[in-house]
Order: sequence, then structure tokens, then C-alpha cells
Amino acid sequence: MGRVEGKVALVTGAASGLGAATVALLVAEGARVVAGDLEVEKSLSAFQGLGDKVFSIRLDVTSESDWIDAIEKVLNHYGRLDILVNSAGILLMKDVEATSLEDWRRVSAVNLDGTFLGCKYGIGAMKEAGGGSIINLSSVSGLVGGHNLAAYNASKGGVRLLTKSVALHCARKGYGIRCNSVHPTFVETPMLDALLETAEDPAAARASLTRQVPLGRLGRSEDVGKMILYLASDESAFVTGSEMVIDGGATA
Ligand SMILES: NC(=O)c1ccc[n+]([C@@H]2O[C@H](COP(=O)([O-])OP(=O)(O)OC[C@H]3O[C@@H](n4cnc5c(N)ncnc54)[C@H](O)[C@@H]3O)[C@@H](O)[C@H]2O)c1
Repeated sequence: MGRVEGKVALVTGAASGLGAATVALLVAEGARVVAGDLEVEKSLSAFQGLGDKVFSIRLDVTSESDWIDAIEKVLNHYGRLDILVNSAGILLMKDVEATSLEDWRRVSAVNLDGTFLGCKYGIGAMKEAGGGSIINLSSVSGLVGGHNLAAYNASKGGVRLLTKSVALHCARKGYGIRCNSVHPTFVETPMLDALLETAEDPAAARASLTRQVPLGRLGRSEDVGKMILYLASDESAFVTGSEMVIDGGATA
């Protein structure tokens, strides 16, 4: 038996990085997964080897109507929803003075509105299945500030506390739905590659980020995926409203 055998998951931001690694791990442990992303073609090609275990859909997490459609597709296709992983996110490295209102709203729309809408509509579907697990991707940047991360810090800090509110609401209602946040440090994904490419000396920038991690390396997608798998599975039945830090000791 896999650790999430028979469960149905919806993963956002599924075409890349942590979302893609999570889809692969959930499928390997027995789940069927709806992979939602703006980049549906990329998602289709990433998961074509997984056959009918993965169903790729276009989902813009900032759009309320996309969420309503996505949940309907999950229920029509697999009949239930047990796991929701809100991984879609964007990074913006700008300090508060350099951040335009447009920048601020764009980062908030994807990282915070997208997670809010996922929780809101995910709960509706999970209630029908008698429970479930919601996992929200925050960041160490949702716990500690950075001088050049104004909008990102605010959005990821928002995800941290939204998660706790959702967890308490679901517990109070007796829905059997748990909600937890995950807080990685820098992880080797296309998001990090894009960040390093903006540095004058990408190799030096990578070395500098690595020096901030006591365990002496950057994170890997599987480091985060395995935590998500634990939170998605019944092994974490007594864990809700928690913030799971995966940072090689960086914030310690
Ligand atoms: N990689 C890191 O170092 C790191 C560290 C801490 C937290 N995180 C968080 O983890 C999550 C995943 O990051 P990643 O590194 O896998 O990033 P990534 O850039 O590799 O993948 C993000 C995915 O989200 C999708 N996406 C962007 N906007 C979207 C939208 N409006 N609707 C639907 N999909 C959208 C993109 O198409 C992409 O496939 C993000 O929330 C990120 O903030 C990442």
C-alpha cells in the first residue's frame, strides 16, 4: 500500500519545481492527481509517462472562476478531493521603495489570493469526501524578513496565518480537514535558477546562498516533496495549523 493510496489530489503550480516533484511523489505513493498550472502544455508533457494517474488542467490560481471550474473537473474526473497542494507562486526581489503597486498586487494575487481561493473552494469539495489535507507553500520568507522581498515576504507571511485560520475553522466545524504550511529555504528549482540568472555572478550568488545553510547545501525538490507527502498522508492525522520549516537549519 502506498502512503496516499486511493486518495485524490489537486496540485497547483504543478508544471514546474516543487509542484512537479510533488505530483510525482504523490503518484508513486498511490494517489491520482489533477495537475493545475497556467502552463498546461508543459504539465501534459511532464506527466505523459504517468498515464491516467495524472490529469492536467489549466488553472490560473488568481481567477475565482478557474477555481470553481477546477474543483468541478476534479470531482467529475476522479469523484472526490482528499489533498490540495497550493504550490503556484511567484518571486519578486525588490525592496519596498522599488516595488510598484502593480508589482505588489501581482505577487499578492498569485501567492496569497491564489492560496485563499484554493482553501475556500477546496474545503467545499473535501467536506463532501468527509475530510482532507490542505498544504500551502509558504517559505522561510514567510517567517523572517529580507530587505529586498517586500511583496514576497508579505504574501508568504499572509499564507502562514491564513493556514492557521483555515485549520482552526475546519477543526471547529468538525470537517476532518487539516491545513498546514510548508516553509522551505532556497530549493533547486526553475524559480531559483531564474533568481540566480539575475545576479552579476550566478556562481558566486549560489555559493553565498549555500553559505547561509548550516547543512551546507541548497534544498532539493524531494526534501520539500517528502514533507508534503507526510502532510498529505494519514501519518500526520494530528497535525494541523502547523508551520513545517525545511531549511537545513538556516533559520535556527
Ligand atoms: N524554489 C524555492 O527556493 C522556494 C523556496 C521557498 C518557497 N517556495 C515556494 O514554493 C512554491 C513553488 O515554487 P517553485 O520553486 O516550484 O517555483 P517554479 O517557478 O519552479 O514553479 C511555479 C509554478 O507556478 C506556476 N504559476 C505561476 N503563476 C501561476 C498562476 N497564476 N496560476 C497557476 N500557476 C501559476 C508556474 O507556471 C510554475 O509552473 C512557490 O509558492 C514558491 O514561492 C519556493
